[in-house]
Amino acid sequence: MPSNPLILSLFFSCIFFVSSSSATTTTDLSSFRLRRNGNRMIKDLNLHPSHGANIFKSNARSFDDELKVSELGLAEKQLSFPFKVLGDSGASVSDLAQHAGYYRIQHTIDARMFYFFFESRRAKADPVVIWLTGGPGCSSELALFYENGPFKLTSNLSLVWNDYGWDKVSNIIFVDQPTGTGFSYSSSDRDLRKDETGVSNDLYNFLQAFFKAHPEYVNNDFYITGESYAGHYIPAFASRVNQGNKNKEGIRINFKGFAIGNGLTHPEIQYQAYTDYALDNNIISKSDYNRINQKIPACQRAIKQCGTTGTSTCQSAYSVCQRIFEDILSVTDNINYYDIRKKCEGSLCYDFSGVESFLGKSSVKSALGVPSDIDFVSCSDTVYRSMLNDWMRDLAVGIPPLLDQGIELLVYAGEHDLICNWLGNSRWVHAMSWSRQKYFVEASNMSFLVDGKEAGVLKNHGPLTFLKVHDAGHMVPMDQPKASLKMLELWTTGRLTPAKQGAVAPL
Ligand SMILES: *[C@@H]1O[C@H](CO)[C@@H](O)[C@H](O)[C@H]1NC(C)=O
Ligand SMILES: *[C@@H]1O[C@H](CO)[C@@H](O)[C@H](O)[C@H]1NC(C)=O
Repeated sequence: MPSNPLILSLFFSCIFFVSSSSATTTTDLSSFRLRRNGNRMIKDLNLHPSHGANIFKSNARSFDDELKVSELGLAEKQLSFPFKVLGDSGASVSDLAQHAGYYRIQHTIDARMFYFFFESRRAKADPVVIWLTGGPGCSSELALFYENGPFKLTSNLSLVWNDYGWDKVSNIIFVDQPTGTGFSYSSSDRDLRKDETGVSNDLYNFLQAFFKAHPEYVNNDFYITGESYAGHYIPAFASRVNQGNKNKEGIRINFKGFAIGNGLTHPEIQYQAYTDYALDNNIISKSDYNRINQKIPACQRAIKQCGTTGTSTCQSAYSVCQRIFEDILSVTDNINYYDIRKKCEGSLCYDFSGVESFLGKSSVKSALGVPSDIDFVSCSDTVYRSMLNDWMRDLAVGIPPLLDQGIELLVYAGEHDLICNWLGNSRWVHAMSWSRQKYFVEASNMSFLVDGKEAGVLKNHGPLTFLKVHDAGHMVPMDQPKASLKMLELWTTGRLTPAKQGAVAPL
């Protein structure tokens, strides 16, 4: 076992890239048996900004004057960039509003959650959707500017309207969480989250404040979406919303469904799928497959010990199991583990430095209402490390009661992603025990058609849908923007699966 499991976290994870070059990291790295991929990544780790998370030792309350937090705990402002967004929004809503804000998180010492809220370009009656990027510790602004937000960044850091932004069919919220991620901050490291209980309570409390401030959206359908490590956040948040509704806590959320894109939800099943996926896709040989497979039983035992509530056992499982992934990478020729068709080039396989430059501009921060002292942290290694007990826990266990209440779950996965591959996702979805599991398992595959062409293969029964998306890696909305928008639109209107088309009664 490596002396320090944290080291692996920097290399091999559902994290996109790690923006840290803290002294501790560098020291730990030198004691590690470096592999080819590792060496290159360390070079690339030298990213800006240099701090690990927005946790300040001084009291962040001094920012309150600048932020003008309201009674609701929200400090929100209408977005107005000091430049013109290029292209055509195509909006049919005449008073289209876009907001950025901070939520003063209840029951924390001093935490503020940063968010964007974009009203639908189509209709105010469209569903409210929240998006969560993974990491843990990566900012949702990565998705906003490279995947499904209203704008895309050009190479000269201008913004251009995204024709396939998810705000074309939904009122969408992007949040930076857990605390310390993106523009979210606190003065106390006791506000760093360690598990899904903390994460889901913060999100639930935010949602309550959000709907209090935007009562006109309370009756809209509400959906939770996200990607990668959000495969952990999403089921936990979904259960938290459901529990809040049942217990009549605060505002009733009109919660309809949750969607997980290339997520990590059930590690025991998903870690076992790595070698199978790698062999099926010819990125490892049969002899490598046999050799690496010998590590699976120890990983499975370790994950079982971790269970759903373990702590140090979960960190051990993490170290043991990451070796499977590490071994696969070590025999491949520099593949991009988010998209095996590509080489790993640029900062940890993709170059997303544009968003850091853009959100680092003082004019942009001021347009967003971000205090000038706060730097944008695209992926926080501090947040990541504080969540390590959480990584190997099984988050699928909470899902069956939600399905049995008719809450929709869509699990989708780009077929060329290795790290949270479709095979592992398909397996846990099939293995999940719920009242109509049998019918889901027996259901036949259907084509997901976009413009008359098959954009994916889907399987559905009742509230449960699995979709494998063609020609896409880890970030489906980046690789297949049109198909991903269609997916969201059809799913949130009950038309993703033909069987449901025109159905008069919900199943
Ligand atoms: C930035 O690039 C876009 C196209 O990508 C172009 O339309 C725009 O004029 C450029 N802006 C500047 C200031 O060069
Ligand atoms: C259904 O599709 C999956 C890929 O999403 C494939 O692995 C599986 O073999 C298909 N099942 C059948 C019965 O064709």
